[in-house]
Amino acid sequence: MNLTKKKYLIAYFSRQGQNYVSGRIVDLKIGNTEVVAQMIQKKTGGDLFPIETVAAYPDDYTETTDVAKNELRTKARPKLKRQVENMEVYDIIFLGYPNWWGTPPMAIFTFLESYDFSGKTIVPFCTHEGSGMGHSEKDIAKSCPKTTVLPGIAIQGSSVSSAEAEVSNWIDKLNIK
Ligand SMILES: Cc1cc2nc3c(=O)[nH]c(=O)nc-3n(C[C@H](O)[C@H](O)[C@H](O)COP(=O)(O)O)c2cc1C
Repeated sequence: MNLTKKKYLIAYFSRQGQNYVSGRIVDLKIGNTEVVAQMIQKKTGGDLFPIETVAAYPDDYTETTDVAKNELRTKARPKLKRQVENMEVYDIIFLGYPNWWGTPPMAIFTFLESYDFSGKTIVPFCTHEGSGMGHSEKDIAKSCPKTTVLPGIAIQGSSVSSAEAEVSNWIDKLNIK
């Protein structure tokens, strides 16, 4: 992979606070997806962009699953706090999210619908608690029909801290020129 010629953005949604990890509720100081985003940043030298909603999710895990289920059912598009001002300069967008009910949080679709990604490449990465990527790659490709969506990586939330080599190998194998 030639990392020098292209400009990389690492955009991710990640929720701190209570989460379900390996069968128990834990309090995450840094969200699982953010940990992976930082690994990708280290490897590619790209720019990090946290996708944050104006309305915060509850700290409580179960309450968040209810809110998220409702947002999925109603195809909600939660408002985001910030925009990427210069999206046109980026060639490759690593797009990170937790698996929420089989697909990315609805905020990811707000993000995808906010820019023209024609001719760009999106590289999904996902953290989860057993369902892998779910149908997230298909849903992203459907949302961005003129964009190349490369095969993503799914990492179990409880394993993110030891996933650096796996993430690095995955990026090498993407063969982005
Ligand atoms: C609202 C919600 C829904 C979730 N749904 C799923 C799911 O369908 N499948 C799964 O494997 N994990 C599910 N999880 C677990 C998260 O995908 C997992 O904990 C992830 O690593 C969290 O990433 P984050 O800390 O970056 O937000 C869900 C978690 C939440 C909060």
